[in-house]
Amino acid sequence: MLKMLLDPMGGIVLTNDGHAILREIEVAHPAAKSMIELARTQDEEVGDGTTTVIILAGEILAMSLPQLERNIHPVVIISAFKRALADAVQVIQDTSIPVDVNDDSVMRDLISTSIGTKFTSRYSDLMCDLALTAVRTVSHDAGGGKKEVDIKRYARVEKIPGGEIEDSTVLDGVMLNKDITHPKMRRRIENPRIVLLDCTLEYKKGESQTNIEISKEEDWNRILQIEEEQVRAMCDAIVAVKPDLVETEKGVSDLAQHFLLKANITALRRVRKSDTNRVARATGATIVNSVFDLTERDVGTQCGLFEISKIGDEYFTFLTKCRTPKACTILLRGPSKDILNEVDRNLLDAMSVARNVLFHPFLSPGGGATEMAISVRLAQKAKAVEGVQQWPYRAIAESLEVIPRTLIQNAGASPIRLLTQLRAKHAECMTGVCSWGIDGEAGKVVDMKVLGVWEPQAIKLQSVKTAVESACLLLRVDDIVGAKSAKTSGVGVGGGGDD
Ligand SMILES: Nc1ncnc2c1ncn2[C@@H]1O[C@H](COP(=O)(O)OP(=O)(O)OP(=O)(O)O)[C@@H](O)[C@H]1O
Ligand SMILES: [Mg+2]
Repeated sequence: MLKMLLDPMGGIVLTNDGHAILREIEVAHPAAKSMIELARTQDEEVGDGTTTVIILAGEILAMSLPQLERNIHPVVIISAFKRALADAVQVIQDTSIPVDVNDDSVMRDLISTSIGTKFTSRYSDLMCDLALTAVRTVSHDAGGGKKEVDIKRYARVEKIPGGEIEDSTVLDGVMLNKDITHPKMRRRIENPRIVLLDCTLEYKKGESQTNIEISKEEDWNRILQIEEEQVRAMCDAIVAVKPDLVETEKGVSDLAQHFLLKANITALRRVRKSDTNRVARATGATIVNSVFDLTERDVGTQCGLFEISKIGDEYFTFLTKCRTPKACTILLRGPSKDILNEVDRNLLDAMSVARNVLFHPFLSPGGGATEMAISVRLAQKAKAVEGVQQWPYRAIAESLEVIPRTLIQNAGASPIRLLTQLRAKHAECMTGVCSWGIDGEAGKVVDMKVLGVWEPQAIKLQSVKTAVESACLLLRVDDIVGAKSAKTSGVGVGGGGDD
């Protein structure tokens, strides 16, 4: 189900993304704050599984309390937890299968698992397409067999309210929220030659206050003339490389526009730095700092079509049909801004999943299968753990059952019966891949190989690690001390000690 959150500014957030919910709510307890931090770590590191990590960490902490009540020292509990974690990581690795990242159907299964629980699950096919195309577009070999997938920088999501969600596309190029500077300039150019600048096309004014004393009238004319000459020289330097489109991060003066228009060049001004970077990657142009350094090599020629289109009542620049884009814009359409924001968040999860698998091509079974496998195998191994450490070790095994249990509860089935059934299935195969899990819709025990619910190994590893580590961290705490607020502590720094 979606949650509707009201923020203090009166806006609303419509989401069921774990991180987005936690980010918005207000908490006072320091332990709760540290849990929220967990969700953030998970989100930044792997982009998905934020809800899982919170549920898991909560359960592990709940299971730690009985251990403390048994008078087991936190240090002992922690070392048992660490041991269990090492074994759990091993189990995750054992139950994973390698994946061919070029196989579309596997990648789609994977992405649809990640958005299956989300608002956009109705548009699953479309979202899979968008995420897969975007990630494939921006991924490239960084040399030395390393892959580089920078979604944040090179795959920008532009949200334009209006239209239908089905109208969303990944452009084979970039879109900018800009219009041309002069109405007479060309609005559609095929195979444009593109020049990217990060300098102004204006007369350079003095940085600080400048006084000029003029004694003759001709001098005044000369000053104006010099300004014009300077702009003309800049434009001439640009015209020399014969571009069709000039795009600068700074301003373009009226005079410069006039010269450019005469040379039949279209100009865009005040383009964002991040947008310029994307255009540079998509079109093969180099961003040049001074017009006098422009050479033929700096001109981008990879773009197939430049066009200004009107969507809603705003003008947008499209640089599409790029031959080897390496950067792209994902154009999202939808009924309202809040819905678009949620679609954006879902898409980000989907893209992170695809990216994780490109980096680390292993899949773990979802639907609680991996968690159950860890739980059963740890419970088995617990028998060999000596001394009191056995109890906290077992606690980790038990707490991992929370994931399949939650899935069963959400499907409306009987947790006790299904969990026992699932445990039995896992007890049968103690080594290798055991992919029995819960079908979240039908509420049955099924083989994930049949259901096709898979998740990247990186996400499973990260969520178990983060959950256990955070529980360990909180166990080390034995007291909460509130720092004095600035007002009550007297006269600033060093003013304490009067209590
Ligand atoms: N059809 C399904 N049947 C059973 N389990 C499923 C199904 N689809 C997804 N899951 C499971 O649901 C869990 C993911 O849920 P969800 O995406 O809501 O949360 P999350 O990934 O932990 O956090 P986030 O809010 O960041 O996405 C995974 O454990 C996954 O295996
Ligand atoms: Mg998810």
